[in-house]
Amino acid sequence: MAKPVYVLNGPNLNMLGLREPAVYGRESLADVEKRAQVRAQAVGLSIEFRQSNDEGELVTWIQEARGKARGIILNAGAYSHTSVAILDALQAAELPVIEVHLSNIFRREDYRQHSFVSLAAKGVICGLGAKGYELALEAMAELLADKGRG
Ligand code: DQA
Repeated sequence: MAKPVYVLNGPNLNMLGLREPAVYGRESLADVEKRAQVRAQAVGLSIEFRQSNDEGELVTWIQEARGKARGIILNAGAYSHTSVAILDALQAAELPVIEVHLSNIFRREDYRQHSFVSLAAKGVICGLGAKGYELALEAMAELLADKGRG
């Protein structure tokens, strides 16, 4: 069995659907996971989909991904803008990383316009809501296929 792609979600993303729906939409995180599972299957990937409000737990999962995953899709929520620890973990993981945000962080407050995650990411998808996770999975499948072809 091929290793999964880790799809990791940071703080407050468990509140999706309830939290500021005008910004983040009405779908719950369970809805986002369903979409991601369907799309992953369609592009020939399996995923491990997780959420944590805890920075250290996210770091631990990224460290775990180094041995157990083929790639990482990460919406680190507010930690994107603050966490050098998450950046360090991503750099140590030596895996393809795609960063996702539901909202368009570049149309928002200044403090959201820098992301530490971006420094380790192959690409960034933001502003397209839950669809962004599906697009990230499509891009990840292509990246991994290209890698496989050497
Ligand atoms: C977010 C954007 C972040 O700025 C914010 O802190 C979040 C969600 C997004 O998906 O749009 O929690 O990552």
